[in-house]
Amino acid sequence: MHSAVLGTQWGDEGKGKIIDLVAKEHDIIVRAQGGNNAGHTVVINNVKYPFHLLPSAILHPDKICILGNGMVIDPDVLLSEIKNIKAKIGEEHAKLMISDRAHIIEKKHISSDKKKGKKVGTTGRGIGPTYADKINRSGKRYENHNGKLAKYVQDTSLFLFNEIKKGKTVLFEGAQATMLDIDHGTYPFVTSSNCTVGGFFTGTGIFVRDLNVIGVAKAYTTRVGEGPFVTELGDYEITKKEKRDNSEKLLVKINNKNASAQEIGRCVRLLGKEYGTTTGRPRRCGWLDTVILRYAARVNNLSNFALTKLDVLSGLKELKICDCYRIGKDFIREIPSDITKLQNAVPAYISMPGWDEDITKCRKFEKLPLNAQNYVKMIEELTGVPVKYIGIGPNRDEIIIR
Ligand code: GDP
Ligand code: IMO
Ligand code: MG
Repeated sequence: MHSAVLGTQWGDEGKGKIIDLVAKEHDIIVRAQGGNNAGHTVVINNVKYPFHLLPSAILHPDKICILGNGMVIDPDVLLSEIKNIKAKIGEEHAKLMISDRAHIIEKKHISSDKKKGKKVGTTGRGIGPTYADKINRSGKRYENHNGKLAKYVQDTSLFLFNEIKKGKTVLFEGAQATMLDIDHGTYPFVTSSNCTVGGFFTGTGIFVRDLNVIGVAKAYTTRVGEGPFVTELGDYEITKKEKRDNSEKLLVKINNKNASAQEIGRCVRLLGKEYGTTTGRPRRCGWLDTVILRYAARVNNLSNFALTKLDVLSGLKELKICDCYRIGKDFIREIPSDITKLQNAVPAYISMPGWDEDITKCRKFEKLPLNAQNYVKMIEELTGVPVKYIGIGPNRDEIIIR
């Protein structure tokens, strides 16, 4: 069956790792939207491979990786990524193709994004301005490209159609995430493409009837850039100024006294190494929000969840899961479209006991500490979606498959 892997929160859920894993069962891996605002990480034997444009399955030599028509591609960034991967692993990488209908990010787009993207806190990679030109019908596409990338360019929609007819299976690689979707996210604090499931079809030029949709969710929540974040732990203004710090002493401190939200947030950031893959910015951290996960499940018709970074929560005495929001006197279970309402929402939490054990060696669900099992089961109960994959470390093999 064909599959899709997409983000359910605000990005950086660990899609790269899940794509690298699920790619084994598919022939062709295709990205459909976004550009080098994405930063997807695959870790093999403690060696980190960060990808911004290349699909996260590029390390599989027997696969075909496609950059679809819905993407915006900075040619210089792609060329340097291709060069880097060849330097690291030689020719042992997947075959690469670029859609002739994908749009080119130009210098003017980057400079405009750097000036105008501050309000949203964009990555400054020219994403928004390039999509704006596309929608304005004044963009530049790869069809007549005569640079070094020309040999990769072709009609990838037609290629995919013919391969699927022959029985080949496709894995759609999502970038960004549901809450950053231009239509369904926390507008205007979003990216400029459709990161939800519909974007896969317009962004590749094919449609498949049966699709296994895997929603990647971090065991807690993070967000980079501006915009509402109901379960955030701490004050974003302070977070922005925080310097990177490797001290894990904070954990002892927050378990031994009544810690402030800021301290818990900072502790999660340190334990989870929550600094952006693309811009290095500290990621804002907060408790898991199942209002968002239920929304993502509905909008994307999720088949299952891949819950990542459960190992990061080891050692925290108390964990919280947000089940609904209070806005004024009302308790609500759906994401409001009105950004001011969302900004004023207060999370209602279910408190759960944590666990102390190191879980990175577990390979079976039943081997997890009971409290960790209960945490996962609570997510399933609150969302109605099974958790099929559980990430327990950054490495390729640090995963439980149920
Ligand atoms: P993506 O944008 O969704 O692909 O995610 P990123 O690569 O930007 O960020 C996820 C980070 O978490 C990366 O550094 C991964 O190596 C790391 N990671 C992924 N899964 C796990 C996990 O289960 N446990 C831990 N500790 N780290 C993980
Ligand atoms: P991956 O694929 C996290 C955020 C930016 C900003 C907003 C708009 O690694 O999950 P943009 O440059 O796209 O116009 O910025 O979206 N953003 C991401 N946050 N992960 C990403 O990608 C992101 N791509 C964009 O921080 O708030
Ligand atoms: Mg990322």
